[in-house]
Amino acid sequence: MADKKEIVMSGIRPTGFLHLGNYFGAIRNYVKMQEDFECYFMVADWHSLTTHPDTKELQGNVQRVLAENIACGLDPDKVALYCQSHVHTTAELYLYLNMLAYKGELEKTVTFKDKVRQHPENVNAGLLTYPVLQTADIILHRAKYVPVGKDQEQHLEMARNFANRFNHRYGEVFPEPVAYNYNAELVKVPSLDGGGKMSKSENQMATLYLSDDDDMIRKKVMKAKTDNGPTEPNAAKPEYIENIFGLMKLVCAQDVIAKYENDYNSCNIRYGDLKKQLGEDMAKFIGPIRDKINTILPDKKYLQQVMEQGAEKANKSANETMKLVREAMGLKYY
Ligand code: TYM
Repeated sequence: MADKKEIVMSGIRPTGFLHLGNYFGAIRNYVKMQEDFECYFMVADWHSLTTHPDTKELQGNVQRVLAENIACGLDPDKVALYCQSHVHTTAELYLYLNMLAYKGELEKTVTFKDKVRQHPENVNAGLLTYPVLQTADIILHRAKYVPVGKDQEQHLEMARNFANRFNHRYGEVFPEPVAYNYNAELVKVPSLDGGGKMSKSENQMATLYLSDDDDMIRKKVMKAKTDNGPTEPNAAKPEYIENIFGLMKLVCAQDVIAKYENDYNSCNIRYGDLKKQLGEDMAKFIGPIRDKINTILPDKKYLQQVMEQGAEKANKSANETMKLVREAMGLKYY
């Protein structure tokens, strides 16, 4: 019999159009990992309610995230591609884990503090326990690897703590989940305005979406922050210039990057030309993904079938884990 494959789990919130950061931080890894691992990838609709209580656009956003994942190369026949709210045992495990998570550590989470700053009028308990729900998503499948971007590092550290705490109190049920990126550090794709990261709902003109048209891509890249260029040979690059070279490394050919590195080091760089080239290469990269999104998204019947098939696979794995969880906890009375 073949060895059982190692288990992978990850998720994306349906809070807007997916962008280059989601692709290079997460989905690129999903697509590679689907060949060698048992994979569970989901749309985190419950998580989106912590910050987006208005559900008018939720259905469309869930369908879009699914279509975008498939357009990037995810095969719903190879992986479980599902919706978080279709796996009800997630909520049960979340409840048990909440008894093992302390208010103090939750309040110290960087993403929680950011959200409190952004929306002081909506500091709800779901927001505070966001990392607990994320842990439930992951360990519900006893996953070991979690492909995510750099912004999720702290959540993964918390997931390890909660899983270990459960194991110590009730017995070994869960492996320690780790954040994962193929043979490299976790990725942070910077925004084009020189500060922060690309994001689904903030700074939209500085974020390249997988559904942007070619002209919009060129326009956004041309607006990226630059300056008059270095005045000394081999000068250190300011962060916003480093970021542009970082974006080039994602989509441009080696010799193109080498040329502009040389131009920079010899103080001959023309940022207008560089951005033109980067805009073309970005458009070439994003174009085929956008076209696929546009063919998949209108097929609602197909998307429903994907969700049903994904939920079935995910529930099977979740039910097996929950049997072990309830037994380990002594929640079995006859
Ligand atoms: P979300 O929806 O914010 O982002 C989805 C994935 O994209 C990555 N990402 C980035 N990577 C690099 N550069 C960027 N600029 C960038 N922006 C986003 C994120 O790291 C993430 O991998 N809490 C999660 C959703 C979630 C989840 C889970 C993840 C719910 N349950 C279980 C893993 C496992 C989130 O908000 O992702």
